[in-house]
Amino acid sequence: MSKFVQNAPSKKSGAPKETGPDLSVTIAGVVLRNPVIAASGTFGYGGEYTKVFDVSLLGGICTKGLTLAPRAGNSGVRLWETPSGLLNSIGLENPGIEVFIEKHLPGLRTLGPAVIANLSGSDIKEYSGGAKLLDSSSIDMIELNISCPNVREGGMSFGLDSESAASVTKAVRGAAPHKPLMVKLSPNAADLAAIARACINAGADALSLVNTFKAMAIDIEQRKPVFDNISAGLSGPAIRPVALRMVWELYESLCPKVPLVGMGGIADAIDALEFLLAGAAAIQVGSATFAHAGAMCEIIKGIPEYMTRMGMTNLHEIRIH
Ligand SMILES: Cc1cc2nc3c(=O)[nH]c(=O)nc-3n(C[C@H](O)[C@H](O)[C@H](O)COP(=O)(O)O)c2cc1C
Repeated sequence: MSKFVQNAPSKKSGAPKETGPDLSVTIAGVVLRNPVIAASGTFGYGGEYTKVFDVSLLGGICTKGLTLAPRAGNSGVRLWETPSGLLNSIGLENPGIEVFIEKHLPGLRTLGPAVIANLSGSDIKEYSGGAKLLDSSSIDMIELNISCPNVREGGMSFGLDSESAASVTKAVRGAAPHKPLMVKLSPNAADLAAIARACINAGADALSLVNTFKAMAIDIEQRKPVFDNISAGLSGPAIRPVALRMVWELYESLCPKVPLVGMGGIADAIDALEFLLAGAAAIQVGSATFAHAGAMCEIIKGIPEYMTRMGMTNLHEIRIH
């Protein structure tokens, strides 16, 4: 297994002494300078945000969902705001993995944070083909998306059942033997712990949770569902307490066999700390960046402030169970 080390604090003697708590975290052998990662589908390929804030401050960047073949995404309405969340039906629009590697990865690599490629597919063959290409690229980690609710084939259907979750994880593990593998779980699964265990047994090095919740909206004037696909994925503050409970329970039941990366509605340092206290080794921020582009920077500033106040020197001390 390759162990890419990005932005690890220098261990050389004579290096300037770090002040404040150590925020670095290692997920499946990948060292992140801090536990804050931009969530897939909400940060493009990183470059878009370089004019908005110093992207090098982040611990990691997850790419938009990638598939072997290019995809145009879904027709019709793709985003719909709700009082405390966001519904999306993007449908994995992306240029295909070859184009990603050729056109987007070189720039993404120069930004500094660890690069996590979010991989999706319609069937196991497409997942494996994509994984094989990523295995020989310079990405740091694969985040295997078996939880997208917005595609008709593949996506979430793999994440709802232990047997299919295990078979796609095993296939991707086999096709990408050199990359750390994190599997992204669906909150829509009936038994999340069983799916998590199946993925770990099939070769997952880490788990991320949660993807969006299957939801919908109806346009009462047009008297029809807003989305062409009828349902869409709900993210943002509305899902946070449920996502937090899922991270807590998974940490309790797996304790702490593999690192968990928590997400779902995290918008500020207090939200992020809740997930870290619940057992997440790192967190991802998605929808909050749309509302406030500086949200992740404020989280990165707020975590060490809390740790200093609590007398903590590193993130291992933060969990409460
Ligand atoms: C517009 C949009 C696009 C997304 N695209 C993807 C994707 O391509 N792959 C994926 O695994 N998750 C995708 N997600 C899910 C997010 O990565 C994240 O799991 C979810 O939104 C919960 O986090 P949040 O509440 O902080 O947004 C997307 C979310 C949004 C809002």
